[in-house]
This record gives sequence, structure tokens and C-alpha cells, in this order.
Amino acid sequence: VLTRVDPPLTIAPQGSLAVFCDELLDRIALRRRWALHRHVHLLAAFDACVRQQRIGSFLSIGCGLGLSELYLAAHHPQVEFTLTDFDERRIKSARRIAAHGRLENVRFAQLDLLDPPDGIRFDVVASIEVMEHIEDDRRAAANYRALASSYLYVLVPGCSEADLTDEREIASAWRRCKHYRPGYTERTLPALFEGADVEWLRPCYIRPDALQLRLEVEAIDDERVRATRGALFARAARDVGLEFPVTEGAAGIELLAHV
Ligand SMILES: C[S@@+](CC[C@H](N)C(=O)[O-])C[C@H]1O[C@@H](n2cnc3c(N)ncnc32)[C@H](O)[C@@H]1O
Repeated sequence: VLTRVDPPLTIAPQGSLAVFCDELLDRIALRRRWALHRHVHLLAAFDACVRQQRIGSFLSIGCGLGLSELYLAAHHPQVEFTLTDFDERRIKSARRIAAHGRLENVRFAQLDLLDPPDGIRFDVVASIEVMEHIEDDRRAAANYRALASSYLYVLVPGCSEADLTDEREIASAWRRCKHYRPGYTERTLPALFEGADVEWLRPCYIRPDALQLRLEVEAIDDERVRATRGALFARAARDVGLEFPVTEGAAGIELLAHV
């Protein structure tokens, strides 16, 4: 049973923390590709969780540089954030970036989603573009569920049912991105987390707008990205909350579920 807690506890960072957040937004925008979209989607998912329940802990799986997670941590000092990846080098880089923010509610750990969880659970467990990198995604999903005590959020590439068995699509996903599959569908993503209570299952990176934004950001120089950052994030935010079916296709799919 979900209890609505109003208003959500979001604290606007001040002073050097505000400067740190500003730098994080620059870094995210400058990563280009789908980074702007990923950021707004993670924030929307986290917001949906804190609006429904008091959230005390958050686990990021395969965090990479963890920029959006650090941004969230700066805005939610009451939540303990654990940022993990199975790649030690990524953790090191994330830790280096985090050091500038001097956040007291963030810790880092190495975590392979294929390893059996050690019993510690987190209110929210999230991953962005990780599951497609794992061959045994069923085992990974079972571990994922075991790590979550309230919510799990997953954003992965989306594809059609036909793509799943199309040898060319499968080969291309591996060759271009080292993805074990072209993506997930409205059927296969929730099936991975069968039994969890789906809050939303949405398309994301929706054509034509999301692709148009991505291409535009890739075509402009760093200075222009920084100068127009607010407008770029505002455009990315229009990718949030849309529903199936999508006429021109979506390159991503996201699931928020209650466990
Ligand atoms: C495409 S990157 C995404 C990084 C970050 N979430 C983002 O959105 O920028 C995929 C990440 O998944 C991590 N990863 C791959 N297999 C993993 C596993 N078995 N357990 C944990 N992390 C894994 C990689 O190290 C990498 O950081």
C-alpha cells in the first residue's frame, strides 16, 4: 500500500554545493548522446518514489560516472546514496567527481549485478542502460529485485519484437555497443521483473523529437551547449511521461515498479 507524503523533501543546494550541481549539469549536457534524456528520466523516477513514500536509501547499479545520481544526492541530503559499478575504474572516476561536492550522503562500492546480493536492501534501486550489457539478464534481474525493498527503476534500449530475433539487429547491437540484445520491449522488460507491481512502463528517447535533440547537441560546440543548457534540458524533459504506442519509434524503454 502506497502512502502519499506531501510535499517531497527536496532541498535546493546552496553555496558551493549549488556550484557543484551547476558543474554536474554542464558535464551531463556535454556528454551528449542520450545523457540529457537519461538525466531527466532518472530525476522523474526518483521524484515519483519520494512523492509516494519516505525514501531513505538509493542504490545505483552500473552508475558509470554517476553524475545524475550525485545531482540527486545534492538535492536529497536526507537520502543515503550508494553508487556502484562492477568496473573499478568507473567508480574511481565517479569518486573523483563526487569529491568536489563534498557530499556526506554518498558512498561508493563495487557491485557486480551477477553476484548474489549480501542481504542489504535499498528503498530505491536504479540502473540506466546496464541490463543490455549483461548476458544473463534473468539472473541479474533476480538479484536486482533482491536488492530493492520498495522500488526498482530500469531504463534500457527499446526495440521491436521482431528485432529480438533479427540476426542482423543482434549482431549490430553487439558490434556497435556490446549489447547482448537489441533492446527490450513492452513484453520483455516487465517479464524480467515478473511479480513486481508496475507503476509505469513507458517508451523514452521518442522519435522524432528526442533524436532531433540528440543530433542537435552533437552538432554544437561545448560553449554553445553550456550557453543553451537550460533550454536543452527543458526539451529533454518533454520526453518524460509519454505512453505507448509510439508512432515513429522509441529508442528506449523505462520501467518503475514497486516490489
Ligand atoms: C552504458 S554504461 C551506463 C552508465 C551509466 N548508468 C549512464 O547512464 O551513463 C553501462 C554500465 O554498466 C556497467 N555494468 C556492466 N555490467 C555490469 C554488471 N554485471 N554489474 C554491474 N554493472 C555492470 C558498466 O561498467 C557500465 O558502467
